[in-house]
Amino acid sequence: MIIAVDGPTASGKGTIAKALAAHFGIPHLDTGLLYRAVGRQVALCGGDPDDAADALAACDFDEALLADPVLRDEATGSLASRVSTHPAVRAALFERQRAFATQGAGAVLDGRDIGTVIAPDATVKLFVTASVDARAHRRWREMIGRLGADSAPPLATIAADLAARDARDAGRSSAPLVAAPDAVMLDTSALDAAGAIAAAIAIVERAIAEKG
Ligand code: DC
Repeated sequence: MIIAVDGPTASGKGTIAKALAAHFGIPHLDTGLLYRAVGRQVALCGGDPDDAADALAACDFDEALLADPVLRDEATGSLASRVSTHPAVRAALFERQRAFATQGAGAVLDGRDIGTVIAPDATVKLFVTASVDARAHRRWREMIGRLGADSAPPLATIAADLAARDARDAGRSSAPLVAAPDAVMLDTSALDAAGAIAAAIAIVERAIAEKG
């Protein structure tokens, strides 16, 4: 069973994907982390994230980088979004994601192009959305919790960054952020984490029942 979970930044897709993996007892891959590692590696090498050759060279990052908490930063998220526009970077990361998706009893992958490119054959595809306002508030509360109220950026800055990242991720020509035609939409704007997880589990169980 392959469960594809796509959606924009801070939509709740990561929380949902992790919970689905635990519920169904299959492994989970946060594919955004791979692009974040590439973005971080470009910065470490003093390269240009908008240069295809620099970004491709950074795909050869050290595995230990995946555990570095700096990957969670907004700045790294923005670098990830920039390197992810290069088709060569997407091609370099394809096999690793595809192999994860097709292992053993299955897997949950979350990202932007899981249902469209990495696993168009997924058993069930969720496209998780939420309004920019809801996502900016969520990210703001999370940053206050992590950095403290004095160090967290203003809400308006977070909302502007989210909108810019949405536009880049959805506007790129290679594997843009778009719902697969057969994806089930899940809007989490009015849901807390428990509500979003319960709704996602219900969607997956319904899909499994329908497919027999
Ligand atoms: O999910 P995230 O915020 O960690 O992703 C960071 C960036 O990586 C995102 O802005 C676009 C890119 N990305 C992608 O292009 N395709 C994926 N499957 C996952 C992430």
